Order: sequence, then C-alpha cells, then structure tokens
Amino acid sequence: MLASIPQKKRDLIARGMDVIDLGAGDADLPAPPRAVEALVDAARDPAMSRYGFGLGLPAYREAAAAWMERRFGQRFDPLSELVPLIGSKEGIAHLALAYLEPGDVAIIPDPGYLAYLGGTLLSNANPYLYAITPRTDFLVDVDEIPDDVRARAKLLYLNYPNNPTAAVAPRDYLKKVVDWCATHDILLVYDNAYSEMTFDGYVAPSIFEIDGAREVALEFHSLSKTYNMTGWRLGWAAGAANFTAPLGNVKSFLDTGQFMAAQRAGVAALESHADWLPGNLAIFRERRDAAVAAFRAEGFRVEAPKASMYLWVPLPAGVASLEFQERLMQEEGVVVLAGKALGDGGEGFFRVSFITSPARLADAAKRAGRVLKQVTR
Ligand SMILES: Cc1ncc(COP(=O)(O)O)c(C=O)c1O
Repeated sequence: MLASIPQKKRDLIARGMDVIDLGAGDADLPAPPRAVEALVDAARDPAMSRYGFGLGLPAYREAAAAWMERRFGQRFDPLSELVPLIGSKEGIAHLALAYLEPGDVAIIPDPGYLAYLGGTLLSNANPYLYAITPRTDFLVDVDEIPDDVRARAKLLYLNYPNNPTAAVAPRDYLKKVVDWCATHDILLVYDNAYSEMTFDGYVAPSIFEIDGAREVALEFHSLSKTYNMTGWRLGWAAGAANFTAPLGNVKSFLDTGQFMAAQRAGVAALESHADWLPGNLAIFRERRDAAVAAFRAEGFRVEAPKASMYLWVPLPAGVASLEFQERLMQEEGVVVLAGKALGDGGEGFFRVSFITSPARLADAAKRAGRVLKQVTR
C-alpha cells in the first residue's frame, strides 16, 4: 500500500497535476548548518572513509551520551550503554532478531511504525497487535493484554510522542507500563524518535526518567526528525549494557557502521541543539497551527497535537480511509496516508505530515474538504 505511493505520485505529476505530498514524515527543511559543514570537512579526511565498525566514531557516542544527560538528566556509558545506529529504524528492526525466537510474541501498537511488525515477522515470531484508538487515548492499556499473550510476550513496543496519532503519554501511565514489564519480564522497546518535536510547553520524557526503567527498557533515538536529517541515517539506542549488547552482536553480522563523516556531522547536530532547535520548532508550530485551522475550516474534527509532525484526522463513520486516500490523491493531487495503511487499528483516520509550507497545507486542506463533501454526500 505505502510502497505504491511514490509511483502514483510520479504518474500524477506526469499528467500535469500540482501534487501536494503530505505523506512521509520527511520535512523539506535544511539540516543544521554546522552539521553540513562538519560533513564537508570530514569527507576530506581520509580517516573518515574507513570502516566505522560497531564502535563507530567514539565522539558520536560521547555526543549522544552528553545529549541524553543534558536533555533528560540520565547518564549512559558511551561505550557499553549506547549503540550507534544507521538510523533508528535499522536498530528497531534488528533488535527483534536479537530477542525473539519463533513462537515468542511481540506486543505492537496498531497503527504504528511498521518496523515493529517487520522485525517481529522477520524473526518468525508472532505479533500481537493492540489497536490504539481514542478509547484509550491512543495508549496501549496493558491491563487489556490477554494472559496467554502476556505469558509468551518478550517485547512491548511503545512510541510516544506517537506516530501516527500524535498522542503523548502521561508519566503515571509510563510508570504503570514499566512496572508491568518488570513483573512479566518483558523488554520495553521505547521509540522516542519525536521526543524533541513538541509544542505549547510540552516536554516529552525519556523512559529512563521513570523509576525502574533501566531494568526493563531500551530507548531509541533518531536525528532524523529533530534535525531534518532523515537521509543521513543517524540514531542510537540507549539502555543497560545487558540490553544493548545483544543488539550490538546482531549488528556485528549485518553492518559495518555508519559513514564516519556522517557520524561526525551527527556530533555537530547534537551540539547545535540549543541554538538551532527553537527556530526549527517555530516553523513546525506555524505549520501545525495552519494545518489545524485549515482542516477544521473544512469540517474535519482535528485536535491540535502537542507533539510530533503529524495531524491524525478522523473521517466520518463509514468512510474507508484507503478509499479517501486514493480519491484525494487521484482527484485532487494530495498525498496523505490512510490510517489503514499503517494498521487495521488506524481505520477511520488519515495522517497529514507537516512537511510543507502553511500555504500549501491550507491548500491541501481545501482539496481534502472537496473530497470529504463528495464521500459524505
Ligand atoms: C515512530 C518512528 N520511529 C522511528 C522512525 C525511524 O527513523 P529513522 O530510521 O530515520 O531514525 C520513524 C520514522 O518515520 C518513526 O516515525
């Protein structure tokens, strides 16, 4: 479903359609200038052209550890408690190979980032999909996990701020989940890719700010969204050494590390955080506000998200999200993601990404409003 979108988009452009792509979470904005300069300089250094191996550039590990400490007050040993990743997707998907045996269960939020499901299936393990809907504020209610699933579960994936629903998780909820994982010996895989994309004074926590999390959790971070560096493929996993080591072992058979010049640029991005991030977030906030106002004006019942780069837009009852996505694309040239494309639990919604200007977002909302009128006539 998702894979066919780029080709369809090319066909529409070839037909002369003015396409507005709000599909992928992949902003049109530049990376921090210091990261770009660091990449250029590092590319001239022959030492940066060599294999990074699992260790990678020690300075990248140290910068990630320093960032975790500044941001969350949590100290990690750069060598044993951090794993540099070729983008967080890589680590999230490979983690499953380190932890899941055939017959094991992984509990996965539905809709959710597809690497959770992908890693589980590649490990010949069984996904248990939990539908995250407004009923539970888009949270996985661990009390609703059936006993037989819980007994076989090895991993629980959670992602707040959430893609695609833009939900955030209260700390008392996170405490309950950490305790539940400790009781049932389940590894909590906490995907914090959107920790910095927050608005209106909301500050997203690290799972490690929750008491007891070091004993049960691994947390994944990414430079992709925070620093507009999706294509640079930089992330890391943090956690106790007994959890990071199996991931490092699996990776030692699969990759030889990210380009070290990119890692050096990652250091520059992480170090430019305090001066650079507020300006970038202001751009996203302006886009969010424009999108919320424009979609509301067209009759969509959206709430302003406190975090992430997405609007999770409900459709009227009975309107299938895939049909809406297809019509919006073919008739109006607007690319969004149908909720169902991200999992059955996403039916009844579509996702808009803030990856273009406020004016284009407003134009897209107008076009979506025309399709809404057609499908509800
Ligand atoms: C929830 C979530 N986790 C992880 C990722 C992966 O990011 P990356 O592999 O670019 O670090 C994404 C990207 O869209 C995401 O939405």
